[in-house]
Amino acid sequence: MSKPETAKKPMPRHIAFIMDGNGRWAERRGLSRLVGHDQGYRALWKIANTCLDLGIPHFTFYAFSKENWRRPKDEVDGLMALFEKYLDENLNPKKLADARRRGLSFRVIGNFLDLPSHLRAKVRKLLAATRENRGHILNVAFSYGGRAEIVAAARKIARDAGRGKLQPGDLTEETFSRYLYTGGQPDPDLLIRTGGEFRVSNFLLYQIAYAEIYVTDTLWPDFKPKELKQALREYQHRERRFGMTSAQVKSTLRPPRKD
Ligand code: FPP
Repeated sequence: MSKPETAKKPMPRHIAFIMDGNGRWAERRGLSRLVGHDQGYRALWKIANTCLDLGIPHFTFYAFSKENWRRPKDEVDGLMALFEKYLDENLNPKKLADARRRGLSFRVIGNFLDLPSHLRAKVRKLLAATRENRGHILNVAFSYGGRAEIVAAARKIARDAGRGKLQPGDLTEETFSRYLYTGGQPDPDLLIRTGGEFRVSNFLLYQIAYAEIYVTDTLWPDFKPKELKQALREYQHRERRFGMTSAQVKSTLRPPRKD
């Protein structure tokens, strides 16, 4: 697989994707929204494989938000079925061997307790089976809400403080981020949103503080590896200042990396 033109410039360590536009993709073709989600599932795999080939260590796909439970029942059921397909496919022994070979570990971020018990069992199994794989982490955000994640972290912190495991003065941004669902992973450097809307939709609210944002009108099922590479080229031409001046960034000082 060919690397983006600017392969010498830093690549993102973490890319987060808001996969919007499945419904519109289907409706424009007179098809059911679920067909759009099926196509979106295929696009997810093409993009995940491209991230693996490009050596991106972390990538996160927003598959189902906490708010998506409010969608019509047949659409929610369809998305649950797709999530189960994702888990089953990756639990297949051949796929597990492939994940081992590629150093791919799977994670699911979101409110685990919202999921039906049969899905929870499969999530646990997939996480356990790929936990030792080193190199890449593929996160799927499912029943995920950014505010809920922050509140859940605050609750765990309060519990640890109550047990004397943590002193209030020890709580730093770094400690806080360890309590998030993505604890231990770097923050996204690049957030890609398809479908043309300029919103963050309650996604990784804490983690995207310094992310570069790329919004495209392309609907998610049409988002191809070629456009991912275009987004990477654009990312590589952005000046990331982390609060400093442009002159400081251009000097020998390197911007602090936020992990
Ligand atoms: C938003 O587009 C997309 C979703 C709510 C679902 C995204 C899910 C997938 C791409 C596949 C599922 C993957 C897994 C791993 C289960 P939308 O339907 O709101 O699009 P619209 O704005 O055009 O209506």
